[in-house]
Amino acid sequence: MAEGKGSGKGNDKVDTNRRAIVIGGAAAVAGLAAGIVIGGDAFPRLLQKTVTEVKPEVTEKEVTKTVTVTKTVTVPEVEQYQKQKIANYSQLSVGQPMSATYMGYPVFIVRTGVKSINGVGPNGDVVAFSALCAHMGGPVQYNPNTNCGVCPYHYSEYDLTRGGMPVIGHPNQYLAQLYLEYDESTGDIYAVGFNRLVYGAHNNVLQSTTSTS
Ligand code: FES
Repeated sequence: MAEGKGSGKGNDKVDTNRRAIVIGGAAAVAGLAAGIVIGGDAFPRLLQKTVTEVKPEVTEKEVTKTVTVTKTVTVPEVEQYQKQKIANYSQLSVGQPMSATYMGYPVFIVRTGVKSINGVGPNGDVVAFSALCAHMGGPVQYNPNTNCGVCPYHYSEYDLTRGGMPVIGHPNQYLAQLYLEYDESTGDIYAVGFNRLVYGAHNNVLQSTTSTS
């Protein structure tokens, strides 16, 4: 019996020519599509460039010789004020001065009761000064009524709330004042230096009678 056109078994025969055409066509379409995509901007182009790199040509080695020289030099020693505890805040009352010595110089500490220049403590009213009058070195004493330091030699006076400014008498300069530091945790008051020369001194540090080392 002849195999009918399009009947079951006959259709199972492979028509290689036709399949090749079909496959070839499909591949051609796919290739065309791929070619369009690849040829477009789907991927960045990789360009090949020729560059010339310049390197220094080393013709000969240079040798550096290091020589270490040790020598001893003399430098001036820096003299410094000392940091010295001179009172505790609990010891001070307004109008009640305390005497002390700072680096060998007689000083006095006082609570003026008002905020004062260079004052420390909770109220900024603790100040300290040289006890030597700037005129001729007389012993300065505190007057609580005026908040002034008064010299009994020639009755000069210094306003202790205004940094020891001379307000009456002979001095043409302020009374030397101490710079103070106040430790809030302990109440300790430290002197750390004078703001000007103490009477009779040309160098407060070098002429102090205590060691600065
Ligand atoms: S020594 Fe103090 S006023 Fe003269």
